[in-house]
Amino acid sequence: MPSITIDKRSIEVPAGTKVIEAAERLGIMIPRFCYHPALGSVGACRVCAVQFLEGPVKGIQMSCMISAQDGMVISTTDDEAVDFRRHVIEWLMLNHPHDCPVCDEGGHCLLQDLTVSGNHGLRRYQGKKRTHRDQYLGPLVQHEMNRCIQCYRCARYYQEFSGYRDLGVMGIGSRVYFGRSAPGRLESPFSGNLIDICPTGVYTDKPSRFTGRRWDFERAPSICLHCSLGCNLVASARYRQVVRHEARLNANVNGYFICDRGRYAYPYASSPLRPRQALVEGRAAPLENALQTAQGRLAHIVKQHGAQAVAVVGSVRSNLETLAVLHQVCRRCDWQGPVCEIDPQRAANLRAVVQRLEPDLAISLGAVTAADHVLVLGVDPLNEAPMLALSLRQAQRQGARITVIDPRAVEMPFDFEHLALHPDQWDGLIQRMMLNFYTPERAATLGQNSQKYFAALGDTPAAPPAGGIDLQSLTAQPGVAQRMVLVCGTELARPSTIHLAADLVLMQRAAGIESKLFFTLSGANALGTALLPDTGIDFEELLTGAENGRIKALVVVENDLWNASAHRQRLQQALKDLELLVVLDYLDSPLNARANVFLPTQTIYETGGQWINQEGRLQQAQAVYAGGESIAMTGNGDHPPRVFGSSVPGGEPQPAWQMAAVLGGSRIAPNPGIIEEALAALHLSFGAAADQRVVLKPDTEARFTQNAYPMSPAGAETGQPLTLLLAEWTIGTEALAALSPPLQEVEPAPAASLHPKEAERLGLTHGGQMTITTPSGRLTATVKTDPRMALGIVVLPRHRRLDWQELGGTRMSLAADCFRPQNGSTHG
Ligand code: SF4
Ligand code: FES
Repeated sequence: MPSITIDKRSIEVPAGTKVIEAAERLGIMIPRFCYHPALGSVGACRVCAVQFLEGPVKGIQMSCMISAQDGMVISTTDDEAVDFRRHVIEWLMLNHPHDCPVCDEGGHCLLQDLTVSGNHGLRRYQGKKRTHRDQYLGPLVQHEMNRCIQCYRCARYYQEFSGYRDLGVMGIGSRVYFGRSAPGRLESPFSGNLIDICPTGVYTDKPSRFTGRRWDFERAPSICLHCSLGCNLVASARYRQVVRHEARLNANVNGYFICDRGRYAYPYASSPLRPRQALVEGRAAPLENALQTAQGRLAHIVKQHGAQAVAVVGSVRSNLETLAVLHQVCRRCDWQGPVCEIDPQRAANLRAVVQRLEPDLAISLGAVTAADHVLVLGVDPLNEAPMLALSLRQAQRQGARITVIDPRAVEMPFDFEHLALHPDQWDGLIQRMMLNFYTPERAATLGQNSQKYFAALGDTPAAPPAGGIDLQSLTAQPGVAQRMVLVCGTELARPSTIHLAADLVLMQRAAGIESKLFFTLSGANALGTALLPDTGIDFEELLTGAENGRIKALVVVENDLWNASAHRQRLQQALKDLELLVVLDYLDSPLNARANVFLPTQTIYETGGQWINQEGRLQQAQAVYAGGESIAMTGNGDHPPRVFGSSVPGGEPQPAWQMAAVLGGSRIAPNPGIIEEALAALHLSFGAAADQRVVLKPDTEARFTQNAYPMSPAGAETGQPLTLLLAEWTIGTEALAALSPPLQEVEPAPAASLHPKEAERLGLTHGGQMTITTPSGRLTATVKTDPRMALGIVVLPRHRRLDWQELGGTRMSLAADCFRPQNGSTHG
């Protein structure tokens, strides 16, 4: 490890560390524009100049370009170095428009800061400035090219780091231009990071344009709720309106970046449609009265029909505080639930994940970038957990081999192998992969199901044929792969797949390959819900209970069943049959209008709270502002009204956990201590410190009857049924982000995807319309054919513009004649 001295302080750093990084370790921030820890060095801006006094390098040099070497003595405050940097800033400012007063970056602009701190206070240049035309880059990012200082961060981030090609650098000499070859919407779903990475105001946040300066905002560290990764961000609010998300550095999770879904999903919190008023039988009521009404009517139903006549639905998006209190209430009152994951298969998968995701097996999103062999099983990363695709890209850039096994036409911004296999084929494939590592000793370390499988094969099992798939190339090989990661989805998989995925990882570890597991889940707190004790009831049973009259009262907390359940017809009828429906939420939904009592809850921006991401990392979000209706709304778009009162307009919503406690019989306004009490009662080790891995306590493995899985590929044969799968899209399906007007502008139109051969046998044409008929309902969708799709599969997004809730299921095997051209009939 080289030892160097910077500003008379010595430090040892790992070989290869740049001087600018070594200085940072000493707390010395050398100015920089082009250098960024995620992008590395290019030496473009020359503002990181320091004086090398002694050692192998001498004189003024760029600290981002020189690696630390033993004996270096460096000064950052040397007169010549300071003067050099001052001149660099002056040159960079020659053509800059000096428009800080009207620039959104003003107040948190690196160029502004370094210009002032570099002592370039007076402009000496009197000549004409070079100017550029700005481009329209879509509804998310604003372009102002005259502010550019040619640091190349944007082009390096956009092309090298995130892998998209539609924005880059053009021109030559002093006419270098950063933008697209023609104006148009940016293609990258990570485009918003341009805003954070640009050290000046070339790319600014369009939806929050001119809403305030950095110091005007109420800001707090927060967590993204829009998939299970839990990326870290900073949320800003002004005048009681959430106006912006920015990425917050967490090397273990999202690094420096977030996806556009996470960046622009916040408008639901300040939407004019957000329900803020408590309602009893559709009429406005003070919140306290509504709460007492709900409490009283629940008590009455319990008296009449028993405690089991009350059921509770929670949510995978609620904070841990709410979930813990719901569990406590159900346990104390002997109510049914809470059921938080309403899709029974996803709920079963979540339970399997909790059983198998031991802390030693789990890997963070940040660490995925260092993998050298990644198997992605049943996950469409860009659509289900966008930042996972960016992490995989970094692994691939460093040479990792990445293979995706998924029936969908998976797209990611880098080259990877894709095996378009039907979910029915996955388990068989994993079993065959495990055979590559089989020894009786290794098999003894696996789950019960795999042990039975190997026992049935005898002492020297031979791999059955794998349908033409090259298993050797799929499997991480000892000596070739050192760091293998198995990414496993829970959307399309069965619980058996979850267990087999864990067994494959164990088998590879036993064979000497460092292997880790990375699950993607269905919501920001999906793992949190699964870590709570199993309530022994799923949504199907709950719905049946409501249908047959056993359940008389339903309390639904932050779960928009109307839009989230695939059983709308049944749900509609069950809701009618209930004696009491109590809904607590912050989203506008037809469910609210059907509630006997509606209670408005606060959002993450008002309550903060804790969430456990898919890896098992407990993370904390802080409240950003006190809540209430935005001044833009109360002032009707005009100047805020000069009316003073003791309460905040629209400030009635309360934290869900608080109202849930009251419904369960607690006194009004329960003490926050109830949360600690509720959490402590659970079987988890929730260390108080945030950002800690939760200690999972695996239960015993679930039993399965099916041990060996067929590898017969589904085919495009006449008469064969097709599997209809519902899936997520980056934009347009996630409940909160789908309500964002800027994201709605970039969301693709919904379409049902299938292989061209399947389309041909069903008589469907790309771009045409098809009707899908199920035993429950019917839906019309645009047809999208793609040769990358698996045969035997039709995939439909849970898109806000499709009535997929009418279909009656999220995974269905349907006869070919259930898929017809609209107004037409199928032909063979
Ligand atoms: Fe949010 Fe997921 Fe995007 Fe991260 S990847 S910013 S958690 S939606
Ligand atoms: Fe070193 Fe730009 S930061 S040259």
